[in-house]
Amino acid sequence: MRSSFIERKTTAAALLLLAAGCIAPLHAVAQEMPKLVEQQGRATLMVDGQPYFILGAQVDNSSGWPERLDAVWPATERMRLNTLEVPVYWEQMEPTKGAFDFTVVDAILQQARAHKVRLVLLWFGTWKNGKMHYAPDWVKSDTVTYPRMKSKAGVAIDVLSPNASANRDADSSAFAALMRHLKQADTQHTVIMMQVENESGSLGLVRDFAPMAQKQFDAPIPADLMHALHKNGAGNWAQIFGDDADETFAAWSVSRYINAVAAAGKKELTLPMYVNNWLKSPRAFPVTTVPGDDYPSGGPTINMFPVWKAMGPSIDLIAPDIYIPNSERYRAVMREFHQPGNPLLIPESLGFEPFPGASGYARYLYFALGDGAIGFANFGLDRLHVDEPLSAESLAQVEGFRLLGSFATELAALKFAGNVQTAVEENGISQKELAFGGAGAPAWRVVVSFPPSYDPPAAPISTTSDTTGLHEGRAVVALLGPNEFLVAGIDCRVQFALPVHSSGRHPEMLKVEEGRYDGTTWVPLRLWNGDETDYGLNFGSKGSLLRITMGSY
Ligand code: DGJ
Repeated sequence: MRSSFIERKTTAAALLLLAAGCIAPLHAVAQEMPKLVEQQGRATLMVDGQPYFILGAQVDNSSGWPERLDAVWPATERMRLNTLEVPVYWEQMEPTKGAFDFTVVDAILQQARAHKVRLVLLWFGTWKNGKMHYAPDWVKSDTVTYPRMKSKAGVAIDVLSPNASANRDADSSAFAALMRHLKQADTQHTVIMMQVENESGSLGLVRDFAPMAQKQFDAPIPADLMHALHKNGAGNWAQIFGDDADETFAAWSVSRYINAVAAAGKKELTLPMYVNNWLKSPRAFPVTTVPGDDYPSGGPTINMFPVWKAMGPSIDLIAPDIYIPNSERYRAVMREFHQPGNPLLIPESLGFEPFPGASGYARYLYFALGDGAIGFANFGLDRLHVDEPLSAESLAQVEGFRLLGSFATELAALKFAGNVQTAVEENGISQKELAFGGAGAPAWRVVVSFPPSYDPPAAPISTTSDTTGLHEGRAVVALLGPNEFLVAGIDCRVQFALPVHSSGRHPEMLKVEEGRYDGTTWVPLRLWNGDETDYGLNFGSKGSLLRITMGSY
């Protein structure tokens, strides 16, 4: 039986509240455990009893230290992030076997609270990028008690064996200690989710060939796996899986191991837990890549997804780390991992200027939002130096996050209710059309064009869009009521139109308010009219949030 934390049902009352857009105020349910909820094909993280969209970033690998984080908070604030992903290092937390040091974790909790930011903690335990470099030195230096993976020739590598129960038990007991500590040190749930290990699997070998692992490999495949994969007959790994036997065996070994770690943690504190994935084909597609060589073997890659789902009931979701510059391929990966029972989360995305001078990545957050993601995080927040002049691409990223951050709570509720769509600029496509409302036929068409323009006549106001040359127009359109919309846009023009067959009626803007949200309260700042509405609603590169009431005559 799966003990997955995803709940597929919410109460009718909660749904009514959601639909009406009037979620209970934060303090009423502040102590509720964060959880994942999936309903009618849509998923969300619930934090303090309300839908939550992770608007996040991940710090560099060696930045999960209080002193280092001090330098990162200004960037968190500048981007209006609601979540920071921070590693917790096994080597730091358990310097000697059984003696735990939580001073670093406690300091991180305190800093996050002071900055009103939630945390996703990343457990750098047995695996980090297909290696074992974060294991404590008492594990590293005792290869008899804590066996390494070995080649056919018996040569050990710097990866712990996933087939050794001593390794699994040592990691499980450390992770359980962390969760036990959070249970008493974090009753307010500053930590909303846990990542168990990091890009697990092995680099250097496709699987463990040590005698103890080989014995398992030569044995008949366990019935539960055969059943889960809908395989008939009996046989060992080589007989059933042929060319894929080594990698499948590795995935079975790693997924069972990490499931045991997650289960030990959940026994202490039932926070949602996920694993992240070093993609099988990170750059181009299709391409042949070799497990253990091009990517960690046995990790939760898409080809091993069914094995992981079958063996990982305590793992709530498998998340792709996407570092792909090609937007079509990027979106294809999102679609692969977004499956029923596996909400879409992108815990690592191309961060700040991964390729100097390149652009286009600021759009990816909006693609993810439109595809129903529960969260999105850029990698390497340390590189955003807010006291230095930012490049055009970094600015585009910052503005994209800031705009969503100005209504993050409302956005999460609207998204979970199924009322959010996005339109994102793509090469060669100057216009996208969204359809909203109406039973059977749309009541409103929303036409989003890139870049913004004031035609006719010639632009009375210049926009910055053309000067950046970034082509990163983005719009989020949310339906608030039958004729009411929330629109957040950057570098685009938004126009409302009636359905094509609308009996000669003409659309009319009754009210266009620019404003922001203070929690769930709308704070109007000014009305748009005249040049700001006569040529469609033009959004500049800084972005604006509008509440619009439409009518027709
Ligand atoms: C993916 C890993 O998960 C991160 O910890 C980090 O090493 C990045 N790659 C570096 O780009």
